[in-house]
Amino acid sequence: MDSKKEFFGMNQLHAYFKNNSDNCIDKWLHYFDIYDLWFRKYKDKPITILEIGVYQGGSLNMWRDYFGEKAQIYAIDINPSCKQFETENTKIFIGSQEDRTFLQKVRSQIPKPDIIIDDGGHSMNQQIVSFEELYGHVKEDGIYLCEDLHTSYWQIYGGGYKKSDSFIEYSKNFIDAINAWHAGDDKLKINELTRSTYGLHYYPSMLIIQRKAMQKPVSRRKGKMILPPEDFPAPRDKRRFFKNINKILNKKVKKFLGR
Ligand SMILES: C[S@@+](CC[C@H](N)C(=O)[O-])C[C@H]1O[C@@H](n2cnc3c(N)ncnc32)[C@H](O)[C@@H]1O
Repeated sequence: MDSKKEFFGMNQLHAYFKNNSDNCIDKWLHYFDIYDLWFRKYKDKPITILEIGVYQGGSLNMWRDYFGEKAQIYAIDINPSCKQFETENTKIFIGSQEDRTFLQKVRSQIPKPDIIIDDGGHSMNQQIVSFEELYGHVKEDGIYLCEDLHTSYWQIYGGGYKKSDSFIEYSKNFIDAINAWHAGDDKLKINELTRSTYGLHYYPSMLIIQRKAMQKPVSRRKGKMILPPEDFPAPRDKRRFFKNINKILNKKVKKFLGR
């Protein structure tokens, strides 16, 4: 089959998966539409992709088919046997995604990836350590994708509903981080994530984090006021009100005194 064509309404990745009789691919079926939505723009471009979790090597073959020959593919697995799936432009590093020193070494040996996919062991610490060590290495405008987040609810993976050290709970702090510009609270400060994260996209079992240099968001009004603005209910900042009154009074007093 020509997997480059759509197959009974399936996108190319889903069609490839459905027809795969080569090395096994292990993916949840609803991932294919999400992958295609986010990955489409990278097809046939000289991009760099890093996948954690090789298993039988099937997903690496699928990425090659989808992204094309210009893509540089890197992968990580803890199982040394996975090294056999290495090819000329698909390099595999053997080590644990929970080992910070190993990840730092990988980081130093590869270009900044456009896409990182964490499809490794899916335990809480693995997902958190990998994110902490690798997100900063994602290229500007690139994406970090962590999958199988349902393990955040599974005890055998270290998860549990609202368990403070699950990846899902950890990632909920990202929502605060990207909004920290507005907090004005010592407990929520602008941090590296605030300055480097454009968007967080949650799907069932998956989180996509868009990396992009960010600045404090700006709000402006343009155009005529047809209705009086004071007719629109909004919480009033009393401190601002008194500051403005003070300003006006000071000006009037200065004028009166001739200064
Ligand atoms: C779900 S499979 C990967 C599936 C593959 N991406 C695919 O789509 O076919 C998970 C892989 O993660 C690897 N793995 C488990 N724990 C790991 C760890 N601590 N560090 C790196 N890889 C790990 C396993 O050896 C296994 O190959």
